[in-house]
Amino acid sequence: MCGIVGYIGKRKAYPILIKGLHRLEYRGYDSAGVALINEQGQLNIYKAKGKVAELESFAASKDTGGTIGIAHTRWATHGEPNTVNAHPHYSESERLAIIHNGIIENYAVLKAGLKEQGYTFKSDTDTEVLVQLIEYTEVNKHVDLKTAVQLALQQVIGAYAIAILDKDHPDTLIAARKGSPLVVGIGQDEYFIASDATPIVEYTDKVIYIEDEEVVTLKVKGERLKNEGDIDITTINNVQKTPEIKRLELSLSQLEKGGYPHFMLKEIYEQPHTLTDSMRGRVNVQRDNIALSGFIDNKERFLNAKRIIITACGTSWHAGLIAMYALEEYAQIPVEVEYSSEFRYRKPVINKDDVVIAISQSGETADTLAAIQLAKEKGAFIFSICNVVGASIPRVSDSGCYTHVGPEIGVASTKAFTAQVTALTMLALCIGREKGTVSEAQYLTIVRELGQIPEKIARVLEQNQRITEVAKIFSHAQNFIYLGRGYNFPVALEGALKLKEISYIHAEGYPAAEMKHGPIALISQEMPVVVVAPHCGTYEKIVSNIQEIKARHGKVIAVVTEGDELVSKIADYVIEVPDTEECLTPLLTVIPLQLLAYHIAVVKGCDVDQPRNLAKSVTVE
Ligand code: AGP
Repeated sequence: MCGIVGYIGKRKAYPILIKGLHRLEYRGYDSAGVALINEQGQLNIYKAKGKVAELESFAASKDTGGTIGIAHTRWATHGEPNTVNAHPHYSESERLAIIHNGIIENYAVLKAGLKEQGYTFKSDTDTEVLVQLIEYTEVNKHVDLKTAVQLALQQVIGAYAIAILDKDHPDTLIAARKGSPLVVGIGQDEYFIASDATPIVEYTDKVIYIEDEEVVTLKVKGERLKNEGDIDITTINNVQKTPEIKRLELSLSQLEKGGYPHFMLKEIYEQPHTLTDSMRGRVNVQRDNIALSGFIDNKERFLNAKRIIITACGTSWHAGLIAMYALEEYAQIPVEVEYSSEFRYRKPVINKDDVVIAISQSGETADTLAAIQLAKEKGAFIFSICNVVGASIPRVSDSGCYTHVGPEIGVASTKAFTAQVTALTMLALCIGREKGTVSEAQYLTIVRELGQIPEKIARVLEQNQRITEVAKIFSHAQNFIYLGRGYNFPVALEGALKLKEISYIHAEGYPAAEMKHGPIALISQEMPVVVVAPHCGTYEKIVSNIQEIKARHGKVIAVVTEGDELVSKIADYVIEVPDTEECLTPLLTVIPLQLLAYHIAVVKGCDVDQPRNLAKSVTVE
């Protein structure tokens, strides 16, 4: 989950690289570094612990010249976060420099072999082993750098997205990937490489998504450089590949904060139109129809499925839990929801007629990627719900549905979550209609209501000031409990996760009825209880749960349906959401919980967009 960026072309590389690192900081930010080949052919590396701003301060007094460079922002996996372990890393001769996102699992064996050859190491990282191996291969097999990279990567077990410079070849930048993302941007006499498109989008919309075990060699022409501009892509076994150029859907404005103090708040407020985007071309209210191409093209797989296994992590797992209710209610297919990290190792029973749904905003979560690779090997049909076009998980999947909510920069997932729930609800309805397990009346009601959801979310957002006031009252709490039932039990889990990950306050989500099986012993005036209690099938039950809490002097913050007259009388604080179909209530009830967590974190002065210890995309195990 590090961020890598590289440039080769007609312009000064350093400013482009630094700006690119800022765009990638959401992927990890415990140290950063840059390598540049200057006009005199010197290879300079500058590194600093901490965020990219630290690197900028450090490099301000240095020679940052050169039109070719690579840069890296790190989230430590091997070796603690410090300057020595920060990337880029020199080879022993200091002729090569490398940056890397991923994990070389057999680095210890490779390192021992290199040590036997007399190599020494400055850092504890697996990355330094890789650059030494490449140099060792180049020197001892008398091959060029590209071949040395191919041969070295053939020995590597693990995940990598790398970029390498050779000070003796300032006209060439080499990059490669397996299991970690890598995008090439194609400009006019200039090329970019990056972990995703955000550092590239302001320069070009022409990109190539590099596939696993591919090596890309970029050469540019210029008065100082001899070569014609050239993109060469091979596999690590030197099989020539034809570059497949795509057009980026991102715009730079999507990347800016748009006037909000944090990306997270921007993304919470984006939800009315991101859900509109997500449903565009899929939910046709005029025709009372939902059309999901991923379903239409694979109808039989879903109709014949004996079971659906949903595999995901974190917030995406919560979306999967909500999908379980909708798929079982409307498609009447048994559903199991698995944490990817457990599913991939517990030797699960996976059958050829299983449908496995992977949910991932980033499309790069290592555990979820591994989980579907396991399922694919066993013959299951893989369907992914992902937000990043061309990411690893959708590329491994048989089919899928992109959520199309634009880049989600805030580490805490918000707009991706509501889009995931929407996509999965659409899928449940499509299957149910085809199977006849959802009545036409039900189907029409929900399709029409889906069309109303963006406007209803906008109405919930109008309560932001009220929610801010509630946040101020409870920002000193040490613990929270979140409760919900049915479709809103996963919403309680999600609300608790939002609070935990950005405000660092401990919070737990529970099915409301579970309180009397132990947790009610925790109730006190000092621990707020958030209850998600919209009008739905179990409303009377949850009212009783609230009364049980009030009887023990607990403080209750309730999310209720507009016009609620019962909970409003017993809860201490009430936030109202518009009425909607029960299966769609999570799309509305989660909004106040996103805002509550956000405002508490802001009151506490937390780093909302880049919470401590977290990164946006967990591409390591
Ligand atoms: C969500 O707020 C968290 N940042 C985290 O739980 C996230 O949902 C999880 O890491 C899964 O990420 P993915 O959706 O990109 O696979």
